[in-house]
Amino acid sequence: MKQDRLDERAREILIRNDRGGYTVPNGRVYPFQWNWDSAFVSLGFATLDLDRAWREIETLFAGQWQEGFLPHIIFWHDDAGYFPGPAIWATGRNPPTSGITQPPFAASAVHALWKAGDPQRYRTNLEKLFPKILAWHRWFAQIRDPSGEGLAVIVHPWESGRDNSPEWDAPAQKIDTSAVGPYERRDTHHLDASMRPTQLDYDRYYALVQFGRSLGWNQRRIGQENPFRVVDVGTTMILQRANRDLLQLAEALGETGAANELRQRIAKAERGISWLWNEQVGAYCSRDVITGESSATVTSASFLSFYAGIRDEARDRRLLQHLERIAGRVKYLLPSLDPDDPGFDPVRYWRGPVWAVVNFLVGSGLSAAGHHSWGERIRGDTRELIGQGGMYEYFCPVTGRGVGGDDFSWTAAMWLHWARGDSPTP
Ligand code: GLC
Repeated sequence: MKQDRLDERAREILIRNDRGGYTVPNGRVYPFQWNWDSAFVSLGFATLDLDRAWREIETLFAGQWQEGFLPHIIFWHDDAGYFPGPAIWATGRNPPTSGITQPPFAASAVHALWKAGDPQRYRTNLEKLFPKILAWHRWFAQIRDPSGEGLAVIVHPWESGRDNSPEWDAPAQKIDTSAVGPYERRDTHHLDASMRPTQLDYDRYYALVQFGRSLGWNQRRIGQENPFRVVDVGTTMILQRANRDLLQLAEALGETGAANELRQRIAKAERGISWLWNEQVGAYCSRDVITGESSATVTSASFLSFYAGIRDEARDRRLLQHLERIAGRVKYLLPSLDPDDPGFDPVRYWRGPVWAVVNFLVGSGLSAAGHHSWGERIRGDTRELIGQGGMYEYFCPVTGRGVGGDDFSWTAAMWLHWARGDSPTP
């Protein structure tokens, strides 16, 4: 498909999935507002209508809890096509929300929106959003960083945004599913089960929702008592970068106290993130907080250190060696799981497929770190995948086929913001 046609298609998708101030990831499979999806989507809207782009994030933060926590789903309207819906979460909020969070990409999105517009015109928008984002980042530091080292713990695989990544397999064995009871999945009504998480995964997802609900969604207690507690390499790296971007916004607003606080947090994480480095594997890997065990798995998130601004020559070299090896095994970068991992499955969600948003983070991170040819390779592959396969939820790294839901908002957004065009990554 030609570039103009693709641009038009991407715009149509965003406009069709717009529900008036927020955008659904996909009308059938994901009919609500999702946290990190909205942040990515705002970058797509920024190419059409900057006011609407800010609004996407403002609507998202309308679902923020008093304590700073920002949920992963805001249920603006109920919809029978999704499980578990608001009545199952039962968080008792208005608007109804889930009780878990997602990777904090919003600060980085707002930073990009701020850079894209006239600062005078958007100053009030920024002034209103800044304290809310800061409160969310503080919540991560207070509730999800038990050793105070700048790491980010997730208490549900969905919080990683990479739902069924094999990094969660071992830690999830501690989740007791014996009392889950009967329930009906809705995702497999819309999509082929071979492309989705397994039944065991779903039982565990649901058991964790029941656990949170049994604690009345007391986040402090969940952070301490949840049976699944893992430092996610993805969330940790995204938070580190988000803190850097938020620091720039603090400086733009003259918020010196907040700026100092953020500087300290960033410095702490620069040291703390080393805990995730697995020397034997030669990569940053997620780690179980309860057992201390490393996932010892190379996933697309392992390469987010460049995006986070973490630099270490010897480690970077090893990461690039992995990239080189992976590029020799599949046609399109970046598969969500190492193709040499025995669990690799090129169409099963986060166990192999390529996702445009992760490609954007990893690709732009590599370029910013000076590894332009890798950054451009990942961007070029994303362009080709979307150009041939359509704006799918994810793509098979072997054949390039679009898989999962079609007409996906964040894929359309990544096309408009990053993958299209000939100019190199900014
Ligand atoms: C899936 C993805 C997650 C995304 C959501 C909505 O759960 O794993 O990252 O936010 O769908 O698109």
